[in-house]
Amino acid sequence: MALAPPLAYFCDMVKEKILVIGASGQIGVELTMALRRIHGNAQVIASDLREPNPLLLGTGPYVSLDVMNKEMLHVQVIRQNITQIYLLAAILSATGEKNPGLAWNLNMQGLLNVLDIAREEKIHKVYWPSSIAVFGPTSPRRDCPQQTVIEPTTVYGISKYAGEFWCNYYHHRYGLDVRSLRYPGLISYKSEPGGGTTDYAVEIFHEALDEGRYECFLKPDTYLPMMYMPDAIRATLELMEAPADRIRVRTSYNLSAMSFSPSEIASEVARHVPGFEMSYRPDYRQTIADSWPQSIDDSVARADWGWRHHYDLAAMTDDMILNLKGRDAV
Ligand code: NAD
Ligand code: SER
Repeated sequence: MALAPPLAYFCDMVKEKILVIGASGQIGVELTMALRRIHGNAQVIASDLREPNPLLLGTGPYVSLDVMNKEMLHVQVIRQNITQIYLLAAILSATGEKNPGLAWNLNMQGLLNVLDIAREEKIHKVYWPSSIAVFGPTSPRRDCPQQTVIEPTTVYGISKYAGEFWCNYYHHRYGLDVRSLRYPGLISYKSEPGGGTTDYAVEIFHEALDEGRYECFLKPDTYLPMMYMPDAIRATLELMEAPADRIRVRTSYNLSAMSFSPSEIASEVARHVPGFEMSYRPDYRQTIADSWPQSIDDSVARADWGWRHHYDLAAMTDDMILNLKGRDAV
């Protein structure tokens, strides 16, 4: 009599069909490309309000989608036989302070639409990012732990903290496998950042190479938690691939790689761009940055599902400069 194959055999045979919402954004472009490498181009549907990013053109399916239109989102999920959703559409901290109502609506209702549809359609897994912005001025400034006082002062931070508890609620009440990371500021060269307080750490590279100088909107000694995009993408994929029983935190995991100030990244950039000059003109984003911790303790993520970062400030700077110079040379 033939033995029944192990369960893992059948699990491997389940072909996931993934919807990325907000695929044209800073994270969405790189995450979509990474998911396509793993699951196959046709299995990953990129979607956004915007046109597809040029880097995604010709790499797989794209649908124009507004996450606020629940009916259309539901139709797409059914029509495309979606089994996993990555929700990246959001308004970030700096843009959020300019239009708090819009930020709250999109960041909350977009998430609730996805969670509801995921529950109804028995979606296997949902990914939704939170942020270090959940923390506020009363949280510990250094090595801010997973569980601590959390009193955010930006609308973005409030929406992320509320969102974390909606994820937790849908997991415990409905069994939805929803997972989340509190990303630090993300630095990348493939796609533009979308209106955050940490965007200066991307702008500095472009301005240094194009103009030889950069005027920073934060003070020179403003330390913030940061991460290079390849680490952030790998963290996301590792979290989503971890066995469900390793994911003990169903709000959102602290995640960390490096912390630096504008004057420190300026010194690193100057190693590659002789004569680089940095000046400072702090604006409203200084208040946002001052409300966040300077560094994050991510030991729970490291213990639960084995998170390890690869890039520090020097390695990230080397790679950014190498790639941006290479792109300019083409
Ligand atoms: P982004 O602004 O670059 O991209 C967001 C994308 O969502 C954009 O392409 C935008 O067109 C799209 N979008 C906006 N409204 C939409 C709607 N109604 N329907 C469909 N698409 C819509 O943002 P990002 O930096 O890629 O961030 C993605 C997620 O990661 C967000 O939840 C953000 O809060 C979180 N995050 C980002 C960082 C960072 O440093 N980039 C740090 C922490 C958390
Ligand atoms: N990079 C993001 C921002 O500055 C942090 O969530 O808004």
